[in-house]
Amino acid sequence: MKRADELGKLADSFNDMSKELLEKSRLLEQEKERLDVVVNGIGAGLALVTKEYRITWMNPILKGWLREDRLTLPCYAVIGGENAPCLDCPITCPDLDKIADEVMKFKDGANGERIFRHRVFPLNHAIEEEGEFLVVLEDITEQKQMEETMIQTDKLSALGIMASSFAHEVNNPLATINVYAEDLIDRIQAGDEDLDEDEMEHYLRKIKENTERCKRITGNLLNFSRKNDWTEDQIRVKEIIENSVSLVEHQLKKQRIQLELHVDEALPAVNGDGLKLMQVIVNLINNAVDAMETEGRLVVSASETNGEAVSIKVKDSGHGIPAEAMDKLFDPFFTTKPIGKGTGLGLSVCYGIIQQFGGNITIDSKPSEGTTVEIQLLAERSLKAGHGVENQAGKSEVPDGYGNSALESMEVGYDVSNKIVSR
Ligand SMILES: Nc1ncnc2c1ncn2[C@@H]1O[C@H](COP(=O)(O)OP(=O)(O)OP(=O)(O)O)[C@@H](O)[C@H]1O
Ligand SMILES: [Mg+2]
Repeated sequence: MKRADELGKLADSFNDMSKELLEKSRLLEQEKERLDVVVNGIGAGLALVTKEYRITWMNPILKGWLREDRLTLPCYAVIGGENAPCLDCPITCPDLDKIADEVMKFKDGANGERIFRHRVFPLNHAIEEEGEFLVVLEDITEQKQMEETMIQTDKLSALGIMASSFAHEVNNPLATINVYAEDLIDRIQAGDEDLDEDEMEHYLRKIKENTERCKRITGNLLNFSRKNDWTEDQIRVKEIIENSVSLVEHQLKKQRIQLELHVDEALPAVNGDGLKLMQVIVNLINNAVDAMETEGRLVVSASETNGEAVSIKVKDSGHGIPAEAMDKLFDPFFTTKPIGKGTGLGLSVCYGIIQQFGGNITIDSKPSEGTTVEIQLLAERSLKAGHGVENQAGKSEVPDGYGNSALESMEVGYDVSNKIVSR
């Protein structure tokens, strides 16, 4: 009997165990289903890859993106379309200790070219020694297209603002020219005897002044629309500063402005277009001169910073810039000067040129004390060494539409430079 009892107990506990096992496998099944829903529902392509680049598992989304006949190839071939392992992947370089993150394009068959974000995470779990990695692929085509559209819209609206400001800026001098010319014609046709040479000269001077204003505006605008004509040279900054100053010396004397030049003798060369740099410096000096009216102190200096960059500063003791104007200074057509004096294009052109140099331009101003504009350009030797000036805008690529011919580059919008052009 005892034996039978023991057998019965054993059978009961087997029964319990098998029930428990059934329950556990049901729960596991449920968990798996849940996981499948999550894995397939996140919209990303997922794959597990061994350190030999073999794909051991992938979710149906990824399978749908890849070519079926290539699914057995190593991950760099089937996903990256490469012939050899990718260099910045943690599978290739475990020492990198980072997640690989890159954006890549490939054809996903049905939909043509699409853009994917591709990330690789090392998996640190119990089977670590096997070296497994999780590859996550996200289709970011729509997001990228949206960004593109936004950039285009931004450009278009900037163009719209530019075009309407341009029309406004040019219409005023054109209307003035029209009035003077019509008046002159009327008086000549009417045989007006009071019209002497002096008066004729006055009319013609007004017409010339306004024509020059139009020319300055269009000349400066060309700086936005042209990209080519950039002469890459090794520039001696000292020479450029001296040449720029000589262009405005007359104006400085006229306004009794005291000029100080501090240029380091051993200044390294910079690479770029010397005439463009001159255009920038002349523009900055002219702004400084305008801010000082008569009397005042202008300091133009250049020194080497950190052995990597050349810093050029134009400092004035003028009226300064009110805080509310600071973030508009580089906007095209932003000016506080009276009509006929400023076009508001000077600083925006400077900004574009310095961007093209891969440099930086910053303005520091204290109302009623003065303003300092600083330009930082990469020294030629650090270019060779592969360093960079940290650009404020976060990038140093050439923006659309800067650079023009040497002659136009001098049409800065000021009397002094215009005199040089017209010689
Ligand atoms: N050194 C400075 N001191 C005070 N204000 C300045 C200085 N530099 C620029 N500004 C302000 O910034 C504005 C924009 O300067 P920007 O050079 O772009 O145009 P502008 O000098 O008005 O006209 P232009 O196109 O003829 O140069 C000026 O109108 C002025 O208000
Ligand atoms: Mg200016």
